[in-house]
Amino acid sequence: MSFAAQLTADAAAIQARLNGAMSGMGDEPVVQAMRYAATGGKRLRGFLVLESARMLGAPDALSAAAAVEALHAYSLVHDDMPCMDNDALRRGLPTVHVKWDEATAVLAGDALQTLAFELMTDAALGPADRRIALVAGLARASGAEGMVLGQALDIAAETAASPLTLDQITTLQAGKTGALIRFSAEAGAIIAGADPAPLRTYATALGLAFQIWDDVLDVTGDAAKTGKAVGKDANAGKATFVSLLGLEAAQTRAKSLIDQAEAALSPYGAAAGNLIDCARFVIARES
Ligand code: IPE
Ligand code: IPE
Ligand code: MG
Ligand code: MG
Ligand code: MG
Repeated sequence: MSFAAQLTADAAAIQARLNGAMSGMGDEPVVQAMRYAATGGKRLRGFLVLESARMLGAPDALSAAAAVEALHAYSLVHDDMPCMDNDALRRGLPTVHVKWDEATAVLAGDALQTLAFELMTDAALGPADRRIALVAGLARASGAEGMVLGQALDIAAETAASPLTLDQITTLQAGKTGALIRFSAEAGAIIAGADPAPLRTYATALGLAFQIWDDVLDVTGDAAKTGKAVGKDANAGKATFVSLLGLEAAQTRAKSLIDQAEAALSPYGAAAGNLIDCARFVIARES
């Protein structure tokens, strides 16, 4: 199956798994907001879980893919709040705090995060030691040494006395976006009981390129395609590769990271075709 067809099929399977996980939760506003926030998106992180698992021969990684997408959905709900990026549009729809209120957005995000960890314990993912490794890996990638750290650095950079250096921006982005993308690819190897090292190298480069491209789209993109407001990063004083290097140099940097990502997949030969196409998609996408 081609990358595009596989991504579409995987997105549908992940959505169904998330819907199933939330189907028995009743209909409180906080649960409605969770379902709303966990709908849509490219499902790129979930795809990385599923495709790396498939490539390494693991039969069923769907709950892990749904878990990283639930965690990611939580991060977006909180990222959009007035105390962070203050965005009103996400995935083409009003953000959770706009459609409901701030308290509901905090709590729906919290509950999507705990749902992510519950999904990671699903017995379908294999032996308990591997599930423990998945839970620990997701915790590290999303917590105070991963996504949360990166988000804190991102917000602090808005009011920093002097512009961040390239190294500092790289650290910031490796946290806020890179850590969960890296873990997503590694998760497939954990489920398969395989060496995660080549996938870690691949997804580390991919994650940085992904955030650079997100920053590029904030300048060059079209809200009708991205489903979120564009042109906001410069106004907010965000520290990005685009703010430091300019648009063209940032694009060039993203392309060279994608070359590095592809090179890291050489141990897998032709089996890595869809992961290679995924890397190319990251710097060709318009959304
Ligand atoms: C947006 O992530 C937030 C970033 C980390 C840049 P995505 O571009 O993967 O968002 P969805 O899930 O497809 O909506
Ligand atoms: C968001 O980065 C990263 C996380 C949600 C962890 P951005 O703030 O650049 O993402 P968008 O542009 O709002 O999607
Ligand atoms: Mg942000
Ligand atoms: Mg944002
Ligand atoms: Mg952005």
